[in-house]
Amino acid sequence: MAETKDLEGFIPSGTPDHEHLRGLDFARLPRHVAIIMDGNGRWARQRGLPRVSGHRAGIDSVRETVECSARLGLQILTLYAFSIENWKRPRAEIAMLMMLLREYLNKELVSLQKNNIILRAIGRIEDLDPSVQREIRKVEEATSGNTGLVFNVALSYGGRAEIVDACRSLVLEARRGSLDPLQIDETLVSRHLYTSGQPDPDLLIRTSGEFRISNFLLWQIAYSEIWVTETLWPDFRRGELLRAIADFQKRQRRYGGLEVEATPVTSSPEQRILV
Ligand code: FPP
Repeated sequence: MAETKDLEGFIPSGTPDHEHLRGLDFARLPRHVAIIMDGNGRWARQRGLPRVSGHRAGIDSVRETVECSARLGLQILTLYAFSIENWKRPRAEIAMLMMLLREYLNKELVSLQKNNIILRAIGRIEDLDPSVQREIRKVEEATSGNTGLVFNVALSYGGRAEIVDACRSLVLEARRGSLDPLQIDETLVSRHLYTSGQPDPDLLIRTSGEFRISNFLLWQIAYSEIWVTETLWPDFRRGELLRAIADFQKRQRRYGGLEVEATPVTSSPEQRILV
């Protein structure tokens, strides 16, 4: 299969993951996959380890999921790394998460460049410590010329806050006289979200077995297919991503209508990374 050239070596033939890969229809990949990464704390507790060990182990899952998404040829991957509600956690845990994020951004730049990935932070980035903001801007700028996967990392992110921010920006435009309020429609609201210009998620994955949305991409997931796995985030690996996509490809998407919609066609093979 020509489509799997970027995955050779990454997913060796003869492995169970390769079987999942063979089952995929590359003409019907989701364009945008969004993931609620959950279960780091439980993973650590099961092993008698501090919560930070779960977050640290979760970074390996982030790395593998990002690379696998890029090699598959997905257009957008959005990971929920730190919610607005997460500010309620103990200060020490927040500090540790921010330290891990800085470390990840610092170490991962080479791999993001090699895999032609564009990193974008979405959320109230201004709430983050200036040192984290600097690291984010550095990686965003360095990867802005890439042409492959867009990796949205959601930080200090809340779906309701995002809609509030979009409303504020629309009202400001109307006040300045550059927008007639009657022009506001769904397309215009979408253009004022953090994900402006991006297709909405086709597939939303949540780990650790909870059936909750947790204030994630509330506007954008109106018609997303949802896939929940019992697996805790630090145990989430490429095989599980492939299984979720295979399951997505079996679903019939009707968007409230009666006709069966074809799943959107993904990016062209040229956009994929060569190994
Ligand atoms: C949920 O587990 C996970 C988080 C709140 C943070 C996710 C962060 C990472 C994986 C590391 C940093 C991210 C990047 C992008 C480098 P939980 O703590 O809520 O787990 P629990 O529900 O089992 O307690």
